[in-house]
Amino acid sequence: MKILIASSIYPDAIAQLKERHEVICAFGAGEEELKARITGCEALIFRSGVQITADVMRCAPDLRLILRAGSGIDNIDLDYVQGRQITLVRIPGPGAKAVAEMSFALMLALARNVLTADRLLRQGRWAKHELTGYLLTGKVLGIVGAGNIGTRVGRLGAAWDMEVLGCVEHPTAEAAGRLATSGIRLATFAEVLARSDFVSIHVPLKGSTRYLINAQSLARMKPGAFLINLARGGVVNEAALYQTLCEGRLAGAALDVHEQEGEGKISPLAELPNVILTPHIGAGAIDSQREIGEIILETIDSFAAKRANKELAFDWEVVPTL
Ligand code: MLT
Repeated sequence: MKILIASSIYPDAIAQLKERHEVICAFGAGEEELKARITGCEALIFRSGVQITADVMRCAPDLRLILRAGSGIDNIDLDYVQGRQITLVRIPGPGAKAVAEMSFALMLALARNVLTADRLLRQGRWAKHELTGYLLTGKVLGIVGAGNIGTRVGRLGAAWDMEVLGCVEHPTAEAAGRLATSGIRLATFAEVLARSDFVSIHVPLKGSTRYLINAQSLARMKPGAFLINLARGGVVNEAALYQTLCEGRLAGAALDVHEQEGEGKISPLAELPNVILTPHIGAGAIDSQREIGEIILETIDSFAAKRANKELAFDWEVVPTL
């Protein structure tokens, strides 16, 4: 089978795919390169950081299987995929564990000034009495988007003795019950903003969530709170966040995802000392990527076997939450 891998995945998975299939790697490629290299491919594997447009997929008339090696599906033309009935398989579970832990890494780093402490000490400054900070224990953790990842973050928060509030796009009794089993109380978006000491964002990027965190929603946050974005850059209006932080209304923010991502891009937020910026590494834990690699191999093998037996391979599978 001919497979295009459009993003870097676990190296061992690539090596094993190469043993069994014809594999083309095109990491970080633009549209024209992808159009050229996808020709003749039956399967495509991709992550964030690449745009899988209808024009790209049109260049692969035999394309039958697309593997999203992770969660987000904001960078693929879903209407086209559905229209052509190409099977799309997401692999959201392994990365969710890594993103949830990263949310805690960022909350702790913000609350205890870990990055500032490190920077000052490297300059010879022993700022023991300046660098105080806050506990997470006993604080209110607000999850915006209590889906697959958000629920994991909430569960960790509950284990940390935090009061955990979570909001979802479609609040139902079933959602409230599901969240309650993870120690999360279903709340409105307004309550999450108003009451939380730490707000961690985990919604997918789509029309209704673009700039969900804007000047108005930032103004409704509890003064002195911290904001953590591990969802997508377009969910937070960074200019509004910059303004809010400059006015001192929030204590700090951590962003793993950005409005502008990629080599050489420097966020204006980098000017501010109470901001932590990381390069979209939330799901990047080796353990998670290894697990994703294993699932890719199983899925490709199963697809190839079913195709060989002329069975219809898979059902359309898209779970619309991160
Ligand atoms: C995801 O959506 O799974 C993450 O953004 C990780 C990635 O694919 O780069």
